[in-house]
Order: sequence, then C-alpha cells, then structure tokens
Amino acid sequence: MGTYLFGGTGESLDPKFDALSSLLDAGTFARVEQLGVSDGWRCLEVGGGGGSVANWLADVVAPAGHVTVTDIDVTRLEERDNVTVLEHDVVSNILPGNAFDLVHARLVLFYLPARDLVLRKLRDALRPGGWLVLEEFDCLPLEVLSVGSSGAPEDAKLIMRVKNALLTVLDHAGAELAWGARVEKALRDAGLNDVSGSREVQEWEGGSAGCRLLAATARLVRAKLPLTDDEFDRYLELMASPETVVSSYAMCSAQGRR
Ligand SMILES: C[S@@+](CC[C@H](N)C(=O)[O-])C[C@H]1O[C@@H](n2cnc3c(N)ncnc32)[C@H](O)[C@@H]1O
Repeated sequence: MGTYLFGGTGESLDPKFDALSSLLDAGTFARVEQLGVSDGWRCLEVGGGGGSVANWLADVVAPAGHVTVTDIDVTRLEERDNVTVLEHDVVSNILPGNAFDLVHARLVLFYLPARDLVLRKLRDALRPGGWLVLEEFDCLPLEVLSVGSSGAPEDAKLIMRVKNALLTVLDHAGAELAWGARVEKALRDAGLNDVSGSREVQEWEGGSAGCRLLAATARLVRAKLPLTDDEFDRYLELMASPETVVSSYAMCSAQGRR
C-alpha cells in the first residue's frame, strides 16, 4: 500500500468529499444507470470516500441487492441494511472472486502506483458479464481562462504555479497525472469486453464545486507547496472569486464487462 496523500484529515465533514459529490455524482449516477443497475445487483464500491455513491447504489439495488463499500478510511461510510462497510486496502487485501455485478471506483486508481494490478483484481472480482466502471482525472488540461481585472497576469501565473506544484506533489506520491487518458485502453488491455469511455473538460468558475475541490486539495498539502502565506491566501481568494474561470481537469470514465 502507498500512503494516501490526502488521508487523515480527521474531519467528518471533509470539504473535499463534499466537492467531489457535488461535482461528479450526477454523471456517475447517469453512467451507472445506463448499465441497467437495478434491484438485486451485487455491487462493490472501492475507495468509497464520503459514501455518496455507495448510498445511492444501495437505494437503487434495494431490496434484494447489496453494496460492499471499501476504503482505507471508513470513518465517513455508513452501514445500512444492504450496505457492508469494509476497511480494506485494495492494493494489499484480497477481494472475493466472481462476486459482483458491478464494481465501481472513482478517483482511486489514479493515486495508486499499483493501479494496473488493482485493475486486474477488480476485473477478477466481477462475475462473468459484470461491469467494471472507472472514473478518473487527467489533470493536464487545467488552464486559466480568465481572472478578475485587478492584478490579472500575476493571478493567472499564481494559479498555474499552484497547479504545477500540486501535480508535482501528486507525482512524487505515485499518482499518474494523465491516468484518465489511458483508462479506457487499460480496461481493454485487461481483457474486458464492450469497453467504451468518455472524456469531458468543463469550465470551473471560482466558488464552484470544481474550484472548491482545487482549494480543498491545496489546503491538504499546503505544507508541501512552495508558496508564501500571502500567495496561498490569494490563491484561496481566486478559487472563491466568480471572476476566476479555469478549464477543468478532464473527467474520464470507462466501462467494460467481464
Ligand atoms: C479522491 S478520494 C475519492 C473518494 C470517492 N471515490 C469519490 O469519488 O467521492 C480517494 C479515496 O480512495 C481511498 N483510498 C486511497 N488509497 C486506497 C487504497 N489503497 N485502498 C482503498 N481505498 C483507498 C481514500 O481513502 C479516499 O477515500
């Protein structure tokens, strides 16, 4: 197991999970619904984080279906009648084989140096015909589109400096910055069938869920960012200002069946 860079905040209301849920849940739910998920499905949600996807799945597959949700940090996950919460490291712990109709992981393999091995473990956890859905970022597209008129060139440069510093920290921790760009091919290489994928770049305005996510992740690694306190405070202001617009990380998703 690697050490998860953003772990251990100890806060039950982690702003990062709130931002992820606001930013991504609607797309995740639509994608998974298209696969026909319904009453009776057995689902595995890997690295479930704040639990929003696991809780939604639990409602969709009730009453006969079941969701197992795993994470190395289960403090925000909720046991329910048809939900089992498992403290589990997907790199080093075993998973049952041929067990699930759906395995879903969002922004988990991105961080794991052993992502290709983990992908094969997730494949093997599927029953024949079951679906694997991965949703991942390609961080490279993020660019500044506009900032407010006061001090604009410096502000745009500051946003790009923070992006580059953040990506360096992630890279050193073992993340694959453009993993999203190769996730569809990785599913094919793992021998899955009916593979398809999508990639979306949006505009994130200051104060939106996307910019809240950028601010929350920067705060989590503040000590590793080569910025003065004034620069960091200015970055947080920019991430909250509606005058800021950046092109987002590309949100890449891919699905395939065993
Ligand atoms: C960026 S968060 C994504 C959370 C959730 N999937 C979402 O999209 O809202 C990454 C999650 O992966 C979990 N994680 C990191 N390393 C893990 C590992 N080796 N095994 C299982 N979960 C892991 C983290 O604890 C965290 O909850």
